[in-house]
Amino acid sequence: MKKIDVVLGLQWGDEGKGKVVDVLTPDYKVIARFQGGPNAGHSLVFDGEGFVLHTVPSGIFREDSVNVIGNGVVIDPVILMDEIRAIEQKAGDITDKLQIAKRAHLILPTHRMLDAASEAAKGKSKIGSTLKGIGPTYMDKTGRNGLRIGDLLSPEFMNRYNALKNKHIGLLSQYDFQYDITDYEKQWLQAVEELRRFRFIESEIVVNGYLDDDVPVLAEGAQGSMLDIDFGTYPFVTSSNTMTAGVCTGLGVAPCRVGKVMGIFKAYCTRVGSGPFPTELFDDTGESLRQIGHEFGATTGRPRRCGWLDLVALKYAVMMNGVTELIMMKSDVLNSFKTIKVATAYEIGGQRVDYFPFESGEEVKPVYQEFRGWDCDITGVRRYEDFPQAFKDYVAFIEKETGCPIRIISVGPDRSEIVLR
Ligand code: GDP
Ligand code: IMO
Ligand code: MG
Repeated sequence: MKKIDVVLGLQWGDEGKGKVVDVLTPDYKVIARFQGGPNAGHSLVFDGEGFVLHTVPSGIFREDSVNVIGNGVVIDPVILMDEIRAIEQKAGDITDKLQIAKRAHLILPTHRMLDAASEAAKGKSKIGSTLKGIGPTYMDKTGRNGLRIGDLLSPEFMNRYNALKNKHIGLLSQYDFQYDITDYEKQWLQAVEELRRFRFIESEIVVNGYLDDDVPVLAEGAQGSMLDIDFGTYPFVTSSNTMTAGVCTGLGVAPCRVGKVMGIFKAYCTRVGSGPFPTELFDDTGESLRQIGHEFGATTGRPRRCGWLDLVALKYAVMMNGVTELIMMKSDVLNSFKTIKVATAYEIGGQRVDYFPFESGEEVKPVYQEFRGWDCDITGVRRYEDFPQAFKDYVAFIEKETGCPIRIISVGPDRSEIVLR
């Protein structure tokens, strides 16, 4: 009997989950997304080409892989079908490679409008949502109003769709917000029909069945731990559990069946959207990180906020995810920095704090430890021994502080630019 392995982000998203899942897929047969939806943008680079996935698991381009969209995911049929068409242009028909949970919730056109209306009404205190309808859809899920993929099979589907849509229209009338869903709704209803060629499954039965049969399964997280609905920088978070616990609820796998938990972090930090970010840099160094790291959102194109690695937040994420091994991404982005800083504690109101506190706003000041940069190009390195000593010192320090081994180091966006230890 196999256990399910997990890959997830430990920071504020965009750590490089797509690349890592693509790299690891040859060791797995099944890749399953367990939460989030089209707010995610997971980039893959191979054969000199880049590809961004939003709802489809990042194993899709590997031969013989089975890709499952689990019950914890929320699905916009228009975005999913656009994505499928783009994948099929490159990889051919994927009907047999993609399965969708009947219990996954549908993002309606009016959910998107509610997201936009709510953000507009918040003004300066907006979350910075990707405006894909994520929050309103999860609200309908917990409010027990939602529509699910399996409901598409019911003759009552259109009645239920119209009832929920009308409820949303009532809610929207309370906002000063103009909208027109006519075109999008047409595309949505067409996309729903097109989705029917895929297998709608009881993903909990299927995934547990694979594990029973000793088939290796990898769970792919979206967003990151600091965007988790419970433990992230609330309310500036997404609306799902982005941590290992989410694998259990988002795929129907028991906690005792979770195996390796591979936690991904960037060698520095980024965040897109509003909310606390203690190590954010507003100076030239922050701008250099953004330019060298091409830190612009894969889903929205927004510039990402950049800053030094935050070990306080990283240790918090390692603890709650039960991370068994770490994966460090975008190490090459720090190539030209003479000095590299890492936050090892915070100062709040003159007090030193070494854990991630409830208060995470402007009152939190990072306490930094400085490192000498390696100041050379490590993009071509493929064996750990070949890294410069200053780089190895950086790695050793993070391992000591987190108590976790760094097993994979990424030195460039391409599939091949990776060092396995
Ligand atoms: P995800 O949401 O966690 O999958 O991450 P994104 O795809 O949103 O953002 C990661 C970005 O960094 C993408 O543009 C990747 O192509 C790129 N990337 C991934 N790993 C590396 C790396 O090691 N070095 C560099 N320079 N870029 C990387
Ligand atoms: P991946 O999977 C980075 C952020 C948004 C916003 C907040 C809430 O590519 O790492 P939502 O649309 O969920 O209501 O937005 O969460 N956010 C992400 N930031 N990467 C993501 O996904 C994100 N998904 C949502 O910017 O601040
Ligand atoms: Mg992303």
